[in-house]
Amino acid sequence: MAVVTAVMLSDPLLLIGASGVLALMGACLYFIWDILIVPLRSPLRHLPSPDQGSVWFRLLAEPRIPEIEKWIDEIPNSGLIRYFGAFNRERIFITSPAAAKDLLYTEAYKFVKPELQHILAANIAGEGLLIQEGQEHKLARKNFQPAFHADRVRQGYPSMWETATDTVKSLSEQKSKTVLGDGRSTTHQSVRIIRLISAASIDIIGHWGFGTDFDVVKNPKPGFGRSYIEMFKTTERGQQALTLAAMIGPKIFMSLPFRAAKTIGGVMALVRRTAEQIVEDHEKAFQIAEKSDKQRQCVSDDMLTRIMKTNHFSHQGLVEQTVHFLAAATETVAGSICWTLHLLSRHPDMQSRLRAEIREHLPSPTEANLAGLINESDFDRMKYLNAVIQEVLRYHSINTLLWRDAVEHATIGETHIPKGTKVVFSPWALNRDPQHWGPDSRLFNPERWLRDDDGSGGADHSYSFLTFGAGPRRCIGEQYARAQMRCILAALIGRFEFVPVCPEKGSDEGQEIGDNAALTLFKILDGWQIKVKELEGW
Ligand code: HEM
Repeated sequence: MAVVTAVMLSDPLLLIGASGVLALMGACLYFIWDILIVPLRSPLRHLPSPDQGSVWFRLLAEPRIPEIEKWIDEIPNSGLIRYFGAFNRERIFITSPAAAKDLLYTEAYKFVKPELQHILAANIAGEGLLIQEGQEHKLARKNFQPAFHADRVRQGYPSMWETATDTVKSLSEQKSKTVLGDGRSTTHQSVRIIRLISAASIDIIGHWGFGTDFDVVKNPKPGFGRSYIEMFKTTERGQQALTLAAMIGPKIFMSLPFRAAKTIGGVMALVRRTAEQIVEDHEKAFQIAEKSDKQRQCVSDDMLTRIMKTNHFSHQGLVEQTVHFLAAATETVAGSICWTLHLLSRHPDMQSRLRAEIREHLPSPTEANLAGLINESDFDRMKYLNAVIQEVLRYHSINTLLWRDAVEHATIGETHIPKGTKVVFSPWALNRDPQHWGPDSRLFNPERWLRDDDGSGGADHSYSFLTFGAGPRRCIGEQYARAQMRCILAALIGRFEFVPVCPEKGSDEGQEIGDNAALTLFKILDGWQIKVKELEGW
């Protein structure tokens, strides 16, 4: 042995070669241990598991939602299933509303959002409420409550309706200017509507959240809003980039010369500058207001103002929350509105019924001077509109999978969940589980919300509807999102008829027009088109 060592030390090439072999052997051993042995020793190995086939064929794959729904249906379980994701990592999946209640409510603070979500959010959505944890989250959430009070959402209706009327006008103009016509129809024209809906969402959060007019719907020029929409658009390449970011880690991804990384870097710099300016303007308005009562009354009552009044957040904290709420308030609502248009285009009878109700209860969007008179009770009266929105949110939850890491030992049902376990729940799957919603649960049927007065839609458990999450981390923007959906959808459906580009193809679920490969959201791809016709009489 001593001789071999002496020979190696005397020959540097041999030494390098030997070190390489040792490193390779180490990597192989680590690979075998971490990927193959660790799962066999898991204390949760007794939980029911699907047959996922050989690890070698699924090493880089994360199961998708249709597969997971099948497991829920077919594998006998008492609330938890164990499966393996990329790199054979163990995931504990929540299959029952009772188990979801333990995760999201009873044991909520024993779990945190995963590191990947923290890093991604820090890069594209700011470090805000969604990713704060523990005591920091509790305090921030408490100080956000006044900003999301029901009264503030109620006061937002006239302004949201005004943006809705701008949206109608813009679609009308877009139809005649940028027709992508297929040459078959003289009445309906194909349009790409996603960007317009995203623009409306940005304008609405601008007014309601920051007292700022981003002017994205009416102004097609490049600028903050347009760049922001560009960054969040869903393309197949973008989804692949996101998957790669998840695998190699967002920090490494952002440092490599990918186009997506460059775009994100550039747009986020602009977003931060914009947020900085908004916060500075608010701080100046506050300083002026301190000087007299009269000026105090002139300070606007937007979300940012309300959270500033709590004195809880530092200047930098306010900038981060501004960046954060821009992301939280736009992508989700715009996505849900687009899914509604998709579904209604496939169900013309429902669309006509809804249009009749809208026209009966609301003034035409052309009567823009009436915007100030629009209020929440006009929408409360529209039972069918509310049933359609509720059903879209149930049937087509934009969040498919959501993730938690156990930071303490916890209990779900009867099962002890050790610290470090990765737990996954799916609003999509639980919202559509026949065991809790009945045999028609995987059909789009707004009628289910009109059957009973109890607002359950026929579900047998309050944690069966998880579109907005639940417990202390439930979506804070739910009522605001519903208000925005009501306004934009009422104005669009009231005025236009929507028809699918290929009625003979496709499905309500829309796997063919969207992508749910991303870590969490099921989004419609950027190139999606829908046919639109402007209707008379409103
Ligand atoms: C249809 C629209 C929306 C959907 C489906 C939705 C869904 C959700 C879900 C499922 C969660 C919980 C995530 C988890 O537990 O991991 C959540 C949290 C959150 N949402 Fe929404 N959201 C929507 C709109 C909005 C809007 C409009 C805003 C802001 C104005 C917003 C702000 C937030 C924030 C800040 C959180 C974190 C709350 C906390 O952790 O305390 N969301 N949302």
